[in-house]
Amino acid sequence: MDQTRRKIAVVFLGPPGAGKGTQAKVVAGHCRVPHISSGDLLRDQVARGTELGLKAKSIMGRGELVPDELVCDMVAWRLRQPDTEPGFILDGFPRTAAQAGWLDAFLEHEFFDNSHTGKVLPFVIQIEVDYNNLLRRLTGRRTCPAGHIYNIYLQPPRVDEACDVDGLKLVIRNDDREEVIRERLAAYEQQTKPVADYYWSKGRLVAVNGDLPVEEVTAQINKVIEDHCAVATDSKL
Ligand code: AP5
Repeated sequence: MDQTRRKIAVVFLGPPGAGKGTQAKVVAGHCRVPHISSGDLLRDQVARGTELGLKAKSIMGRGELVPDELVCDMVAWRLRQPDTEPGFILDGFPRTAAQAGWLDAFLEHEFFDNSHTGKVLPFVIQIEVDYNNLLRRLTGRRTCPAGHIYNIYLQPPRVDEACDVDGLKLVIRNDDREEVIRERLAAYEQQTKPVADYYWSKGRLVAVNGDLPVEEVTAQINKVIEDHCAVATDSKL
């Protein structure tokens, strides 16, 4: 690995359907860091029927947030895997004030040890999308079991109900039902918006316009990351 490369620690914040997963997959590839989605990690636990999965299943099915301590333990485990050495993109975490405080402390103690010269302070990219667009994105979303994301209105696959990449049958996420979507959006307003306000007040949040086409949102995000890394290099953070 390139020892001179700086660590990239980025959090993608935004309401359900904003495009966090869509963008994180592309940007993580570009930056050569893992994409860590708390929602994907939880869905994997549910699919495997683990103790955490059994606890999380009904909570996620109602569109509520899984308790902080369960999610923080899971994310800690993931962040300790060796592939996060060059950095990571976190998608969907943190989404409560308690998770945000926990993440700062965790990164300070375990991730950015003082011996590492390539330190870049973690920062947050907020993807902003109009409410009606969010509803359309969520009700039209289809995903392939391998994680590729489509939308029957906005980003349809070439062949109906089949993934362009691997041909697998596309499915509707269990929590993309209209009554659950409203709960998820309400949870975002009540519990996650204050997290964005906190990062904004600390000068650690940059907002991008998520209403634009996928490629244009990606370009905005890549520019934000490049600018941030350049500033961090100049100030020898
Ligand atoms: P999670 O999986 O994190 O879901 P979410 O935050 O609700 O976000 P989504 O995955 O729905 O949307 P996204 O922003 O990734 O959008 P996407 O790229 O798919 O969480 C699920 C549940 O797990 C939570 O409700 C909670 O219960 C639990 N959970 C997870 N993390 C937790 C935590 N930290 N604490 C507690 N509980 C937690 O795009 C959406 C659609 O739009 C797609 O169809 C896509 O094709 C389309 N699209 C994307 N971008 C564009 C664009 N620019 N133009 C047109 N269409 C677009």
